[in-house]
Amino acid sequence: MKIGILKETAKGEKRVSITPKIAKQLIDNGFEVIVEEDAGSSSKFKNSDYREIGALVEKRGAVYKESDVLVKINPFDEDGLKLIDSHHILICQLFHKSHPDIVKEIADKGATIFSMDALPRISRAQDMDVLSSQSNLAGYKAVIKGAYEMTKIFPLMMTAAGTITPSRVLIYGVGVAGLQAIATAKRLGAIVEATDIRLETKEQAESLGAKFITVEGNGEDSDKGYAKAASDEYAKKQKEAVNNSLFKADLVITTAMVPGRKSPILITEEQVKQMKNGAVIIDLAAAQGGNCELSKLNKPVIKNGVKIFGTTIAPESVSTNASDLYAKNMYNFIIFLTENNEFKFDLEDEITDETLIVKQGVIRKT
Ligand code: NAI
Repeated sequence: MKIGILKETAKGEKRVSITPKIAKQLIDNGFEVIVEEDAGSSSKFKNSDYREIGALVEKRGAVYKESDVLVKINPFDEDGLKLIDSHHILICQLFHKSHPDIVKEIADKGATIFSMDALPRISRAQDMDVLSSQSNLAGYKAVIKGAYEMTKIFPLMMTAAGTITPSRVLIYGVGVAGLQAIATAKRLGAIVEATDIRLETKEQAESLGAKFITVEGNGEDSDKGYAKAASDEYAKKQKEAVNNSLFKADLVITTAMVPGRKSPILITEEQVKQMKNGAVIIDLAAAQGGNCELSKLNKPVIKNGVKIFGTTIAPESVSTNASDLYAKNMYNFIIFLTENNEFKFDLEDEITDETLIVKQGVIRKT
């Protein structure tokens, strides 16, 4: 079975779905690998690196034509969809609920697609979970970006010229990105506080050295490890509990998301007005609408001296590591789905069932 690695076409995307190291592991497992020319060059993997481990490097058209399995990170674009036919098995992050048109087009071609973002959040699937591996890097990078934009340093510093007090960092949302942001800010010496709607995150935040801000109503049910949308009552109580920390914070990182919905507004313009002059907000939920009312995706906003960055801190900003982790997830997924290099299509298994969006032209998930 031949696996084709496609070059990403989304604007600004620098990652590649399978690195040379992982391509070699696939070859060692009996797969053939064909790579689109320059697929890895933006993440510092050269065509020659792929050739050296035994992969073929070809132009896009040849990769589509010769591959049985086509892998990429972002959904297939219009040009790519034209090149798909019924024998193809596609794997990417399709976000099928947001892309019904792409799902239909793939089904019309009679092809098959698995979507990495649809993996169930169960222990068995952890090593295939691309949302986790990529958000972890985003959490780290958000703190680094915050440090760069702040006019203060993080740690306590005693010098002959006086003592610098540590910066205060507040994290909304203690999921994968939030936990890494806590760990990173803590390592850099900040005083870190965090809050989340899911009460189970309290212990996780505290184990990394953050103070958890409990909100009355915490523990409102979660759904398969994800948060459910907060009630208005909870949102009000959250403001009362967190505002004191928000108004003292030097850096605020927001990561709160609810799958399939617009992200909740946790910081209003009114709250921003009461924040410290020079404070920085890094809003990682900006692509889903943002946790700060004033955030604009990829456009800095300054309000009353508070700098607000609405960003996804796309993992492409650390594309080498992001590709390494994505590729390992992809490898584990492919090995899980296959036996003797053939896809098993074991629909009794939760991982296969949830991620198989279209099977030979039949739409299974909408
Ligand atoms: P996410 O990106 O969907 O959300 C980030 C955080 O925002 C979550 O912790 C959520 O509870 C919080 N949040 C949502 N609405 C909020 C509100 N109104 N106020 C405050 N916080 C709010 O979540 P992420 O990071 O993708 O993962 C969530 C959890 O899923 C993880 O902590 C982990 O327990 C679980 N997980 C399990 C995996 C597995 O077992 N395979 C893999 C990855 C995550």
